[in-house]
Amino acid sequence: MTRILLVLALILHICFADYSKYQLDTFKDISMQCYRNLGIPEDSDILQRIEYNRNITEDPLIKEFLLCGQKLLGWIDTDGNFQNETIIRFFSDRYDAEQVKEVVELCVLSGGETVLDKVYNFHQCYFKHKKYAL
Ligand SMILES: *[C@@H]1O[C@H](CO)[C@@H](O)[C@H](O)[C@H]1NC(C)=O
Ligand SMILES: *[C@@H]1O[C@H](CO)[C@@H](O)[C@H](O)[C@H]1NC(C)=O
Repeated sequence: MTRILLVLALILHICFADYSKYQLDTFKDISMQCYRNLGIPEDSDILQRIEYNRNITEDPLIKEFLLCGQKLLGWIDTDGNFQNETIIRFFSDRYDAEQVKEVVELCVLSGGETVLDKVYNFHQCYFKHKKYAL
């Protein structure tokens, strides 16, 4: 019984949670570039912390990393404008497009005094309001 439940939990986890391989590969690629740009050691856990929203604080390096990553992903342009469609397309690779659209269109409005605050607030808002599990 326990084993069946474990298998079921695993299948559900694979189907409904976590990122897709495409998403994980993209994050990995981009974070390697941003680690290099920002002089962060390659074995840093910043990427994992951001991916799963663990121990994310108002650390300037976290904000710089978020900005670097979101720029490379095309989520935000050089003028600091979020690109809804690009963000929605990225997350829809795994999650329900309607739910993605809802949370993205809400969170691009988070605002912030600087572009660093904007990307940080977007990240916080996304994890607070997304309805799908990770
Ligand atoms: C949480 O992050 C801060 C800096 O952002 C770091 O100093 C601290 O060690 C981290 N704590 C854990 C448990 O990773
Ligand atoms: C992007 O999101 C904003 C804020 O929710 C919305 O007003 C705008 O229509 C969206 N843009 C596109 C191209 O969907």
